[in-house]
Amino acid sequence: MNKPKKRIAVMTSGGDSPGMNAAVRSIVRKGVNAGLAVFGVQRGYEGLIDGEFIEMGPRSVSDIIHRGGTLLKTARSQRFRTEEGREKAKEKLEKLCINGFLIIGGDGSFHGAHKLSKIWDGQVIGLPGTIDNDLYGTDLTIGFDTAVNTALYAIDHLRDTAEAHERFFIIELMGRHAGFISLMAAVSGGAEEVLIPETKTDLEAIARRMEAGLKRGKKSCMIVVAEGDECGGAYAAAQRLHELTGRDYKVCILGHVQRGGSPTSVDRVLASKLGGFAVDAFLEGHTDVMVGEVNGQCCFTPLKETWEKKKKLDSYLLDLAAVLAT
Ligand code: F6P
Repeated sequence: MNKPKKRIAVMTSGGDSPGMNAAVRSIVRKGVNAGLAVFGVQRGYEGLIDGEFIEMGPRSVSDIIHRGGTLLKTARSQRFRTEEGREKAKEKLEKLCINGFLIIGGDGSFHGAHKLSKIWDGQVIGLPGTIDNDLYGTDLTIGFDTAVNTALYAIDHLRDTAEAHERFFIIELMGRHAGFISLMAAVSGGAEEVLIPETKTDLEAIARRMEAGLKRGKKSCMIVVAEGDECGGAYAAAQRLHELTGRDYKVCILGHVQRGGSPTSVDRVLASKLGGFAVDAFLEGHTDVMVGEVNGQCCFTPLKETWEKKKKLDSYLLDLAAVLAT
């Protein structure tokens, strides 16, 4: 008699990130190839609680590797934060006899996944999917590289008009608690200043540096600020710098533009690799872990550590950014 196929469910959760589709594609194809039945959960934890599963095969993930967003849809679920919501989700997984739950998301989604692993008798495996890159246990998260390139595209455009008009600009990028996008975009975009939650922000000192730059012959400037910086965001910084220098600072808030768009090759490859590795992790019996890539090697990190341990910014790059802005 044939043994019944093992079953896995894949879900995208929290803020979408470019490359989530590539990860789903990889999980579905690798899973089916390994003899598993693969189901997609729609609308994140909301859909899990409501039992919104679809069976997936290689053709259900055709033509998505290059698309942003997520074909499974996503959500930020308040209901899953409650014990009642998690119990309902567990029942839905049991009803469909799911053995493994693969979730692509960020730290909020992983908090939920960790709690699920405590009450449900199946394997829970996370894949890092967030533009913020703020998860410990992987050098890059799926979507980060695309978001940085989107931000860079915007900075390059703003520089053209800033230089043409000899104007000062402040661009606000995403990152409520993390400055990874801002630091990378600032260095690659040649910004004069980068203001991020991980470091102290001194607007008086910045105003002095801006004025000194003018004296050295600078005609325009670009300041990058992460949305979570202590200065209160681009408008607050522009207001304060105006008070301090009398100059106008134009503001651009890039917002959710950074979350969309076709993933870069870096994100597509990372998503494909981690999708395959997550299926391997399921087959090997792992649970309550995130798969990641560190120094080119796939690895596991307990879900709890992905948010409890702090991923460090590249401090060399941070120091260098100040020198390169002179
Ligand atoms: O977590 C990714 C992220 O894009 C953050 O950078 C940002 O602060 C947040 O999501 C915005 O969330 P929402 O789309 O729910 O407003």
